[in-house]
Amino acid sequence: MNSKEIRKRFLDFFERKQHEIVPSAPLVIHNDPTLMFTNAGMNQFKDFFLGNADPSSKRVADTQKCLRVSGKHNDLEEVGLDTYHHTMFEMLGNWSFGDYFKKEAIQWAWELLTEEFQLPKDRLYASVFGGDEEDDMPLDQEALDFWKAILPEERIVYGNKKDNFWEMGETGPCGPCSEIHIDLRPQEEVDQIPGKDLVNMDHPQVVEIWNLVFMQFNRMANGSLVKLPAQHVDTGMGFERLAMAIQQKTSNYDTDVFTPLINAIAQKANVTYGNEEKTDIALRVISDHIRAIAFTIADGQLPSNNKAGYVIRRILRRAVRYGYTFLNFKEPFLFELVEVLAEQFDGVFSELTSQKDFVAKVIREEESSFLRTLDKGLNKLEVIKKQVESTTKMIDGSTAFELYDTYGFPYDLTSLIARENGLSVDEEGFKKEMEVQKNRSKKDAATAKGDWIEVKIIDEVQFLGYDAVTAIAQISRYREVEEKGKTLYHIVLDQTPFYAESGGQVGDTGYLADGDEKISIIDTKKENNLIIHHANKLPSNLEAHFDAVVNVTKRRLTENNHSATHLLHAALREVLGEHVQQKGSLVNEKILRFDFSHFARMTDEEILAVEKIVNSKIRANITLDEQRNVPIEEAKKLGAMALFGEKYGDFVRVITFDKNYSVELCGGTHVPATGNIGQFKIVSEGSVAAGVRRIEALTAESAENFNLKQAAILQQVNELLNNPKDPVKAIEALVKEKLDLTKEIEEVNVEKSKQQKINLQQKIESTNGLNVLIQQAELPNAEALKKIAFEFKNEVENLILIIAANIADKPQVAVMISDNLIETYDLHAGNMVRELAKEIKGGGGGQPFFATAGGKDLKGLPQVVAKAKELIKSVTSH
Ligand code: ALA
Repeated sequence: MNSKEIRKRFLDFFERKQHEIVPSAPLVIHNDPTLMFTNAGMNQFKDFFLGNADPSSKRVADTQKCLRVSGKHNDLEEVGLDTYHHTMFEMLGNWSFGDYFKKEAIQWAWELLTEEFQLPKDRLYASVFGGDEEDDMPLDQEALDFWKAILPEERIVYGNKKDNFWEMGETGPCGPCSEIHIDLRPQEEVDQIPGKDLVNMDHPQVVEIWNLVFMQFNRMANGSLVKLPAQHVDTGMGFERLAMAIQQKTSNYDTDVFTPLINAIAQKANVTYGNEEKTDIALRVISDHIRAIAFTIADGQLPSNNKAGYVIRRILRRAVRYGYTFLNFKEPFLFELVEVLAEQFDGVFSELTSQKDFVAKVIREEESSFLRTLDKGLNKLEVIKKQVESTTKMIDGSTAFELYDTYGFPYDLTSLIARENGLSVDEEGFKKEMEVQKNRSKKDAATAKGDWIEVKIIDEVQFLGYDAVTAIAQISRYREVEEKGKTLYHIVLDQTPFYAESGGQVGDTGYLADGDEKISIIDTKKENNLIIHHANKLPSNLEAHFDAVVNVTKRRLTENNHSATHLLHAALREVLGEHVQQKGSLVNEKILRFDFSHFARMTDEEILAVEKIVNSKIRANITLDEQRNVPIEEAKKLGAMALFGEKYGDFVRVITFDKNYSVELCGGTHVPATGNIGQFKIVSEGSVAAGVRRIEALTAESAENFNLKQAAILQQVNELLNNPKDPVKAIEALVKEKLDLTKEIEEVNVEKSKQQKINLQQKIESTNGLNVLIQQAELPNAEALKKIAFEFKNEVENLILIIAANIADKPQVAVMISDNLIETYDLHAGNMVRELAKEIKGGGGGQPFFATAGGKDLKGLPQVVAKAKELIKSVTSH
């Protein structure tokens, strides 16, 4: 059974059990401060468990792209070294939201594995939560009883909190779990050691394949457990491990999920998989990492220097380094694997197939830039290794930091290479250096000081902001947060007109009023589905009915920019082509910023064409067509543009400005008709990353002011030019005239210098075999002074030259001494010029044979000459 078939059979099985099959959520999570990447199938359903939102179906199943490379679940260090851990993996899951519970979850898992997939019953083990004293939790008797009905007792094991109590992160929904493990060893080995002894012992062939979590609690920030409003099922099965079991392989990497990648890399490197430990690890690392890298980029996250972007950069650099050191790849190679991957996932995760050129381009650029410093960094490490090998065997913090800062080595890469060489790294020292750097650009994020405090229990927050900018609202819950050393309050209302920052549109500001008391709302943000109002203080009466009022001016200006962004997006696709995809967007009351995939700088003509289209759509005054709660399939049929990396529910909002022009899935707020935008002006176009361009533009009054300012500048220019008929021609003429004049002046200067040189020549005094020239002179520029000095050096033997020059009313001194005199007379032009420069209130220096100095006091030039003569007198009299 190939992997596509396995995936399909899983989904079909649960569809037959009345589950709705839903798409995978994107890998990168945008509005959950507790999580950077999707690390489990249940992430996208978190709000259903917590009771913050209602699911459209009580039973769902899917295959979810997951990434376990940061936070509570982090497998990065293991990847490649063993045969069953991954950065990105697929989690097959089925869920019950307050519907079926332990019995069905256990029975169906058993049915699927043993009947549908025909896995050997006697090789399967189940683990059950054995209880925990600290959390005051008993043994999961219920799960145990259901398993006892299926399995003989000797194949049931009891697990502790670490293995059998599943938690998403430090806080959030959690509960006891039952894991299913499989023993894939050959029979001889099984006869020697029973599988039961190897469950949860990190044996590569006795592995967990499925985790059935019974969600019952919410872990609070203070560590306590609070019972959830309902009981749920959350299961997760490692797709790659399941494939290994079904395909009877001993490693995930031997299944058809990985072989196409491994073969492609091995072929390119001219090695065979399975021949040598080191190259095998490299092949596994690369075939694993390319999946994480490619899918994350396809989901809209570009490699960068912070947060999710940096995690991807780290993974990519880890892969590049393995290829470089163990497979001898000195040129970018990862990007070529995107093609293989896209083909493998065609029809499964189409976001990669449809963006493969873009993804490959981004990866290639990122690889090239790291390869440029990798070699130097590795050499540096080699040197350090030799230094510390016989002493501390430890790379110190500042070296690790230099590798990070100068050579782009993420800490884990340095530490990995150190480990390979039997060394360690001073992590504390590294962190300290990082801290110092961070403090230079300090930006503390908000941290919650405690859990939410409930004021009024509600089902789901009502957002009224599409239709209203004011509402009567009550506080549902609030919490205290610490941000940049200040205390702030997060407030959730039962209903609100405030738009929370999302989809690029900034959050609303405004106020809550209760009688005479007004509380400013300084921002509005989202956490999952919660709309959170940020305030500097809490109202005195928390239970009041507040007037919640949005700052309308700001909202309207922001709407102009948001609607204009849609018009721009469509215009770009018209002018540049269908490959244009939104890659980022910022919409506020001042500006709109739009990032999109495109491979070349836009020409002036293209920019103009885009502006013209957008402005014509504004003048056409197209009425907004807003449709809420459109089934996602229907929206797609309308041709609505969806964003990769954006999570859409079953029902979406569709914003249309002319169904033949712009149809987008969008949760933002918009103008009632495009005429409101007034006008549109692109003010910059540039590059943000490989294959991503950025446009900044203005609308309405801002655009008008921009244009007026440009016109005013032109007006001034015209006036300066005496209002010529054609200002461009006039400026061209001016530029040409300037060039001609400059040339002429140069010629005159050359002539002047020549004349000066002839004058000076006559002033050379010869005494005691020395030729001494000490003179004041007027010269056009510093080059002329230098030129003359060097010419004399070549033409006159035994020369001592000191010229005190007036160069365009600035004093300058040059000293030149024939090489043979330097030692004989113990002369040093540099020292001499420093001494002489005092007379012109200046300074300078140079070599023993030639030096110059500039100064401030032109009147000092005669003194320079006098002093020079004095200085030289002692020399010449010898
Ligand atoms: N959420 C559970 C896990 O990730 C199923 O293992």
